[in-house]
Amino acid sequence: MYAFNLVERRAKRGVGIPDAEPRRVQRIGIVGAGLMARQLALLALRRLEVPVVLRDLTQEQVDDAKSWIAGELDELTRKGRIGEAKARFLSSLVSGGTEWEVFAGCDFVLEAVYEEMRVKKEVFEELERVVSPECILATNTSSLSVRKMGADLEHPERVVGMHFFNPVAVLPLVELVRTPETDDVTLATAWAVTGKLRKRGVLVRDAPAFVVNRLLARQGSVITDALDHGNTVDETDEAVLRLGLPMAPSVLLQLVGPKVANHVRHTLHEAWPDRFPLSATLESLATGGEPVVVEHAPRTVDEIHEAVLEAMADEARHMIEEGVVAEAADVDTCLILGAGYPFWLGGITKHLDQTGVSQRVVGRPLAELSGVPG
Ligand SMILES: NC(=O)c1ccc[n+]([C@@H]2O[C@H](COP(=O)([O-])OP(=O)(O)OC[C@H]3O[C@@H](n4cnc5c(N)ncnc54)[C@H](O)[C@@H]3O)[C@@H](O)[C@H]2O)c1
Repeated sequence: MYAFNLVERRAKRGVGIPDAEPRRVQRIGIVGAGLMARQLALLALRRLEVPVVLRDLTQEQVDDAKSWIAGELDELTRKGRIGEAKARFLSSLVSGGTEWEVFAGCDFVLEAVYEEMRVKKEVFEELERVVSPECILATNTSSLSVRKMGADLEHPERVVGMHFFNPVAVLPLVELVRTPETDDVTLATAWAVTGKLRKRGVLVRDAPAFVVNRLLARQGSVITDALDHGNTVDETDEAVLRLGLPMAPSVLLQLVGPKVANHVRHTLHEAWPDRFPLSATLESLATGGEPVVVEHAPRTVDEIHEAVLEAMADEARHMIEEGVVAEAADVDTCLILGAGYPFWLGGITKHLDQTGVSQRVVGRPLAELSGVPG
């Protein structure tokens, strides 16, 4: 019931979302045509039924994304989910190219280019040349500072983070990232668009890796530490699967890609070196190598499981105290909707509170903590 209340009531109400009139969105731009960009373009097409324009570095990349979208629409038609005429209509709404001018007239642009601050800043600066000052500039970054990304713009108040999860069609969460500059209308528009896309938004503060990736990375740091000390992948998988997760961490790592995971680890390491140590194993996996045993001192599966829970409790505490989320409940919503955490645990903080881990690590239940407002 706790979990149901989170995803059906709290997440729908939109805690912290300002009561401003959202802007109308009638033409959407997506920067990039890669793995996320094409899924986001398809989602926007299906749910909003407005023109969607894509830009990538080469026309081949744009064309490839367009054929992928056409293929997905065909598949939906074959399954009887949409009619043939609708599929043809939606296909006709997609266009794209390599020029920035394709975004002229867009009222909402979402970028999903490489996870590099320099590239993302350039993208926003180029966009600002061709769109109106009211056009929302959203980023799908998984770990970078949204504030920094918009810092040199003339209108940083229209910048907002919208962190979708892969696969986009399956995972309902969008972490909505407000920076100190983001204005109420921008946030209200991002919230409204999230709803129209039939996703659930959770407001989070602009902090490295936001909520889901930060917690999974903290969990990952316990796992790679065990691997660095001679545990096997089977053992670390079992230690985490006990939480009832839909996917073993080693499978998730393959899906995300060890290179990306290591990149996120480095970002978090820079922010909090003690809690996110670099790992010889992860460095090696990121370059196509095998796990590296630094010291042979393996732990039992029980010990690793306990260490994972304690690390999660500690990280959730930091997140709440920093005001990354308003309360522990938001951490739970994020993990249920963005990482497939099981409903029956009620979300991770509920589980940690109920099993006494929070008391041991934090000194009281996470549900009793509150952070800095805003
Ligand atoms: N892959 C995931 O699971 C995932 C999940 C959530 C968020 N994200 C975030 O989404 C973003 C994109 O990730 P991805 O996995 O789709 O990457 P990707 O490598 O599949 O796609 C990135 C695309 O951006 C293009 N690009 C680079 N510079 C560009 C520019 N200046 N203008 C236009 N296009 C440009 C590249 O050519 C490439 O096609 C990243 O910020 C990533 O952190 C990824």
